[in-house]
Amino acid sequence: MQQFLKGLPKVELHAHLNGSLGIESLRDLGERLYGSTSHKLLELSALRFQKNLDACFESFKFIHELTSTAEGLRFATELAVRDFAQDNVQYVELRTTPKENENYSRRDYLQIVIDAIEKAKEKYPDTLVKLLPSINRTEPVAVAEETVSLAVELAQSRSDLIVGIDLSGNPAHGKFSDFAPILARAREKGLKLAIHCAEIDNPSEVKEMLQFGMSRCGHGTFLSPEDIVLLKQRNIPIECCLTSNVKSGTVPNLEEHHLKRIMEADAPKVISTDDSGIFDTTLTQEFLLAAETFGLTHKQCIELTLEAVNHSFASDQEQKEMAERVAKYASTLQI
Ligand code: IMP
Ligand code: ZN
Repeated sequence: MQQFLKGLPKVELHAHLNGSLGIESLRDLGERLYGSTSHKLLELSALRFQKNLDACFESFKFIHELTSTAEGLRFATELAVRDFAQDNVQYVELRTTPKENENYSRRDYLQIVIDAIEKAKEKYPDTLVKLLPSINRTEPVAVAEETVSLAVELAQSRSDLIVGIDLSGNPAHGKFSDFAPILARAREKGLKLAIHCAEIDNPSEVKEMLQFGMSRCGHGTFLSPEDIVLLKQRNIPIECCLTSNVKSGTVPNLEEHHLKRIMEADAPKVISTDDSGIFDTTLTQEFLLAAETFGLTHKQCIELTLEAVNHSFASDQEQKEMAERVAKYASTLQI
């Protein structure tokens, strides 16, 4: 199964750029930025994960330090694409929160990431990359406004690359209703919305989010059975990130992961990594865990990949080509 999953041309729809750097990539980045004998690099090697959502958000601080220069951000973007390409991911939608500091503005941040994706295209031509600027719900609304304005502006010339907006950040902070008008503006301008929803138990917010609507639902950990039925009726997939949810403690264990309920309800779903670096996983590994825990067959893994193709924000032609790659792989294995 593992070999089959590794070779499968997979589709990744929920990946945060700064969370997607594997430990090897973090070391490569640390070495490039600080030199091989630095203290910073030692700190990196000691990076460990704690099972708690707040601790998870703390881990990002260190990585954000590494990407706080133009060079760091550029190299990190290239490394993230490399990690997905090495895992045979044929399509990845990278999300990232534009940041500003003494080295770059939010506009610069997005431009650096765009340029790095373009460069990575030459090195990893088999992996198609799209970009979703993220709104961090813990930051002020004015920042979200700037992010959406930049995304809309840049998407005018790069509609092939900037395809949507993500709402993320610590779900215990910030109010969805404050961001809804900005998200509505993004949607009016043609950007798709991927919204982290029901990552913690907050039924009133989930209700607001479902009423508002979205193209894809991130995590959906605390969705009620009625919510899942509603998403099914609207053909909105739930982005299931098994390791992320277990390691951040929002689900107790793999066996109790809501992917089971979603599959039983025959609701749309995709399997994703969330933060493959932070959670030390890969998309291959996530499929393997799902297959081992819920008894998925090779055929079901192919179907899940095709489901991800259909729910991607890629163009019709790109989706067609991705589905063909999957079909070709399946046919060579006679699945
Ligand atoms: P970045 O946007 O590229 O810096 O990726 C890391 C950021 O993504 C974090 O600081 C969070 O704002 C967001 N993020 C990553 N994982 C999660 C998650 O599971 N829930 C909510 N937000 C997340
Ligand atoms: Zn996420």
